[in-house]
Amino acid sequence: MTRIVIGNDHAAVAMKNEIKSMLESKGYEVINVGTDTNDSVDYPEFGQKAAMAVVNHEADFGIVICGTGIGISIAANKVPGIRCGLCKDVTDARLTREHNDANMLAMGARTTGLETAKDIVETFLNTPFSQGVNHIRRIEKLAKIDGSFKGE
Ligand code: RB5
Repeated sequence: MTRIVIGNDHAAVAMKNEIKSMLESKGYEVINVGTDTNDSVDYPEFGQKAAMAVVNHEADFGIVICGTGIGISIAANKVPGIRCGLCKDVTDARLTREHNDANMLAMGARTTGLETAKDIVETFLNTPFSQGVNHIRRIEKLAKIDGSFKGE
């Protein structure tokens, strides 16, 4: 079963719950590390928690959501080994999987509608990495920046 970790701040509780229900209804295992109330919290904590679950192989993919998706994607991308793409439409979602082999998806609950967000999640999870040699070379260069490169 594919395991998805979801992290969110207070701006994204409702969207998180909708995405979580959708994923569970499709048979995914969802690990919720986000906040569940509207009390104000700080997105870096939740971006980091979700990212750590991905790099520690507790989850296959991560989804992070804040008001814009920007802050929480910045947080997730600070964890070595994370490639978190902020997506506002299904084309972003497809290309960040095909080209960047993104292991995390970020979205903005205040900037993206719920139906679009659901389509983005489905596209992200159903699109394989292209395995293109140019893309592999670029991803290796990203890993060399954050120290997570495992090759020679
Ligand atoms: C919280 O008010 C808001 O700043 C946060 O959800 C996010 O949009 C930051 O990037």
